Amino acid sequence: MSPRPLALAILISGRGSNMAAIARRCAAQEIDATVACVASDRADAPGLATARALGIETAALAPAAYGTRDAFESALGERLDAVRPDLVILAGFMRILGGGFVARYHGRMLNIHPSLLPKFKGLHTHRRALEAGEIAHGCSVHYVTEELDGGPVVLQGQIGVRAGDDEPSLSARVQAIEHILYPRAIGWIASGRLAWRNDRPWLDGHALTTPVVEDFDALETS
Ligand code: GAR
Repeated sequence: MSPRPLALAILISGRGSNMAAIARRCAAQEIDATVACVASDRADAPGLATARALGIETAALAPAAYGTRDAFESALGERLDAVRPDLVILAGFMRILGGGFVARYHGRMLNIHPSLLPKFKGLHTHRRALEAGEIAHGCSVHYVTEELDGGPVVLQGQIGVRAGDDEPSLSARVQAIEHILYPRAIGWIASGRLAWRNDRPWLDGHALTTPVVEDFDALETS
């Protein structure tokens, strides 16, 4: 049983809107968790200032200062472990993490990816979904494994692609649902509904073999 509240360490590289959405729900006690630290690989990430304004401890570690990826990730792990995180939350952290770091937080690290995985792993997901003529798009919350964007997906939010959508419009609608779904998945862990056991996710006492999918279309058109 995790200590209460759950301690979160959140990794960002940019704006940090998902981090802020999670932190606000923790502060409002809608999730039984606390953001113990927000860390970034970029000192100029706007999300760091947002985190500080929310009263959260921040850290910036420049990969170039460490010479190798392993050295950077060891330093990052030590920095995170100083706050004893129960969960490491990747929220727009735009670096591929090595096996050592992934192993360090095995079963305790989540990511949000802006596509309906396994579709569109990697970058430029909105543009690629539009180019592929997809009629549905969205985001996925998944446990992190060594395979890039490949760990077990627990929760997905789906929206319809509209005629006339472009990359910014689609991205904005996906981000809006990310801010709902990522806190929800973390809340499931904080409340004990979602857990990592026997090397897989379990929800409500059952091994989760397919993600929970929420279709936001009804909300969009109303
Ligand atoms: C989010 O849309 C997230 O899904 C994406 O970066 C954005 C970060 O926004 N993550 C990835 O593309 C990871 N492959 P934010 O900094 O405003 O939360």
